[in-house]
Amino acid sequence: MSCRMDNKAYLVQMNGDGVHGKNMVQPKSLIGTGVAGKGMLGNGVHHVNVNGSLYPAKAKSRRQRWEVKASEMANNTLNPIRAIVDGMKLSPNPDKPMIALSIGDPTVFGNLPTDDAVLQAMKDAVDSQKFNGYAPSVGYLKSRQAVANFYSCPEAPLEAEDVILTSGCSQAIELAIGVLCNPGDNVLVPCPGFSLYKTLAVSTGIKVKLYNLLPEKSWEIDLQHMESLIDERTSCLIVTNPSNPCGSVFSKEHLQKILKVASKHCVPILADEIYSDMVFPGCNSPSLASLSSDVPILSCGGLAKRWLVPGWRLGWILIHDRNDIFGSEIRQGLVKLTQRILGACTIVQGALESILNNTPPSFYSSTISFLKSNSEICFSELSTVPGLNPVMPSGAMYLMVGIEMNHFPDFKNDVDFTERLVTEQSVFCLPASAFEYPNFFRIVVTVPEEMMVEACARIREFCQCHYQPLSCEDLDQ
Ligand SMILES: Cc1ncc(COP(=O)(O)O)c(C=O)c1O
Repeated sequence: MSCRMDNKAYLVQMNGDGVHGKNMVQPKSLIGTGVAGKGMLGNGVHHVNVNGSLYPAKAKSRRQRWEVKASEMANNTLNPIRAIVDGMKLSPNPDKPMIALSIGDPTVFGNLPTDDAVLQAMKDAVDSQKFNGYAPSVGYLKSRQAVANFYSCPEAPLEAEDVILTSGCSQAIELAIGVLCNPGDNVLVPCPGFSLYKTLAVSTGIKVKLYNLLPEKSWEIDLQHMESLIDERTSCLIVTNPSNPCGSVFSKEHLQKILKVASKHCVPILADEIYSDMVFPGCNSPSLASLSSDVPILSCGGLAKRWLVPGWRLGWILIHDRNDIFGSEIRQGLVKLTQRILGACTIVQGALESILNNTPPSFYSSTISFLKSNSEICFSELSTVPGLNPVMPSGAMYLMVGIEMNHFPDFKNDVDFTERLVTEQSVFCLPASAFEYPNFFRIVVTVPEEMMVEACARIREFCQCHYQPLSCEDLDQ
């Protein structure tokens, strides 16, 4: 070991794992590991200043001024809804109270409280004091077992090991994309579709290819278009059923056709089923996995919508892999990804078994009846408004309305249309450009019934004010 004065620093030369300078502070875990820590050059040469702290003896390429920049990932993280809404001038008419039909949070108006059994489960979890610590990163075994029991069916059986608990369905989607895709790969995403898929993919260098949904066919997938987009770098097909923003529910036959395309091209599916079972009476909505004989599926879901507690941030991934195509690699990959943040909130995990087992069926059915009734009010009101073409939903919490823009020459596009609807009528609907689908807007149907009725009346008045019949010249074009 040799020491010399070097610009107020002692240089401590170490041989092998040898002896440390008196003032060397080296984490125990790094001793002898060859891992260079702060102040270590990785070649056994360490620098210690007179005060005993560590710093390099010769600062290479020292910065002359502050320059702290956001990472590429941060800069590439874009939420299209924010990008559009933040750019809108939203100044409501002071004579009319604001009605926001734009927020996909069923709790905002207080008219759709969660069930007492759900609240009790949470209170019990807190009072027990058993869930204040860290859980395994994939979630407590008991809670995973509860989810497996809840969703298992003979066609798609689930064990606890097939369930990963996450921080909301959003994190489930993030992990699923993260484990299946590399930068440069592409994912197939519905259009119109939930904007988070693109936000997550693009920020990590994954490309997004949008496949069309067909409003005239109740938003079924244009299967030919979807298939035409698949190439050797397509690493995942995202299917949202029931749909945000469309409120559509695919039939069993349509789901089978989707599976056929995925099977033909060996593309795994990320099934976003956060609205599973939120389907109107008379509609059947099997899970994709229950119909799949070979296609491996990561089904993402959570408590947010069906149990009406989006703020509780509890989601899950159900791994369906009957033919062992994902195998241990994808399972291990998912486990590794959960270790980045050590998983979902433990209190909610503690309440999960009770939430799933004790919520009465009447809670689910009354929520669905309300959503259906509000959808029917909205659909029948807007169907008779000149220039608007609402599409009746079959589930979830949304309804899409087409705007015949050629009848509304006062407005450039759906963003302009919805902005002026706020200015004149204090009604805010999300322009569907936020879902990459211009000339439509989305209505959230969770608002109280009287608000829905009032909002529809104002939308009618607005359209009547601005609607222009087509001239002969327009018709000739
Ligand atoms: C289709 C879809 N997937 C996922 C999510 C995210 O759910 P969570 O709030 O559990 O993260 C939403 C939320 O609106 C959604 O609409």
